[in-house]
Amino acid sequence: MKRLVVGRGSVFADLLIIGEAPGEQEDLEGKPYVGKSGKLLNELLIKVGIDFNEDVYFCNVIKCRPPNNRKPTSKEINIHKPWLLQQIKLVDPKLIVLTGSTAMKTILEVKDPVSNLRGQWIKKNGREIMVIFHPSYLLRFPSREINKPYHLTLKDLENVSGKLNAL
Ligand code: URA
Repeated sequence: MKRLVVGRGSVFADLLIIGEAPGEQEDLEGKPYVGKSGKLLNELLIKVGIDFNEDVYFCNVIKCRPPNNRKPTSKEINIHKPWLLQQIKLVDPKLIVLTGSTAMKTILEVKDPVSNLRGQWIKKNGREIMVIFHPSYLLRFPSREINKPYHLTLKDLENVSGKLNAL
């Protein structure tokens, strides 16, 4: 299967969550973040009180699955970026969460490691943007101890939830 995976959630949401690219399950269902990473992300959103059907729109930088789940190339990112920018314009979210380095580099145009920027609010074009670890990173490092990626991401999303409720 090779289908376009455009988005899921509410197009009226104040929060946009941007991932990298569809994986196998996303390709099968035609929706972003519905595989293992998506389930973990949903679990985190529930924990911090964000309703992922009503409060969020999800999309990816890349709209179709790269072969064997490899990282998208810069050429692919440049081809897909105008779609993403148009999607941001249409959804017009107040807050954006960038999951992982591909989304971070594409939107913020920086080369920093995610660990340098995650958890901070960065203002760009009138929107508040936060980088968090990609959920697949949390799956690779599953410890739930304090200051490990899962715990840090939960704290980051608590911060996002607080800001969303204060809008
Ligand atoms: N699924 C997605 O839709 N995006 C990712 O970045 C990872 C898994």
